[in-house]
Amino acid sequence: MLTWHYRLWEPHDVVAILVFALYMCRFVGAISIHSPKQSLIRSVQEDVFFSADVSCNGTPTMQWTFMSASVSRAIAAWRPGVFANVTADYDGRVESHDNGSMSLARLRLQDSGYYVLTVTDDAGASRDAGFVLKVNEVLYEDLQYLSVSALALGCLAALLMLGMWLLNKAYRKIVACRHRKQMTENDETELQPL
Ligand SMILES: *[C@@H]1O[C@H](CO)[C@@H](O)[C@H](O)[C@H]1NC(C)=O
Ligand SMILES: *[C@@H]1O[C@H](CO)[C@@H](O)[C@H](O)[C@H]1NC(C)=O
Repeated sequence: MLTWHYRLWEPHDVVAILVFALYMCRFVGAISIHSPKQSLIRSVQEDVFFSADVSCNGTPTMQWTFMSASVSRAIAAWRPGVFANVTADYDGRVESHDNGSMSLARLRLQDSGYYVLTVTDDAGASRDAGFVLKVNEVLYEDLQYLSVSALALGCLAALLMLGMWLLNKAYRKIVACRHRKQMTENDETELQPL
């Protein structure tokens, strides 16, 4: 009996029990956040979708926070089916999804930075997932404006050159005409004495 007891607590049994306990803990208190794309680049005025899929037991509370070098502010907090709260700064631009994902519409340059999703479960355990967003200025319209201006200037220059060429030609014609007239008049005057 004693030897059986002794054998029960052999080191490999202890390890097996610990591993089993840890394995069970994973299912009891675990929060998992699956986020396929954590680095996003968008342009000003576009929308962005921070895709996440949260799983935990009970109903999770999602909380999104924005962080940049100078500020850190709450964006929204929600609990699927219970409440959804959007900070006044983001009112009308944020859409919350039950799986933890968040849409942010009409991006501005200042929206560039880090976005942190914090998920808290019923027991108070929490887990974070981070996203990086870069918002670029729209250069396209400026470029289009420049190319249109360049085209208009080019056309104007071509028209001016054509006009000058025509004037020059007309002037030469007039001069040649006058010259010829003068020559015939001279001929006539020279012929008169004969
Ligand atoms: C989360 O839910 C949204 C809206 O229902 C869906 O479009 C998106 O693909 C989901 N994200 C993930 C990672 O499952
Ligand atoms: C929603 O936000 C307001 C202002 O930040 C806060 O006073 C209120 O307690 C929040 N509601 C919930 C349910 O979190």
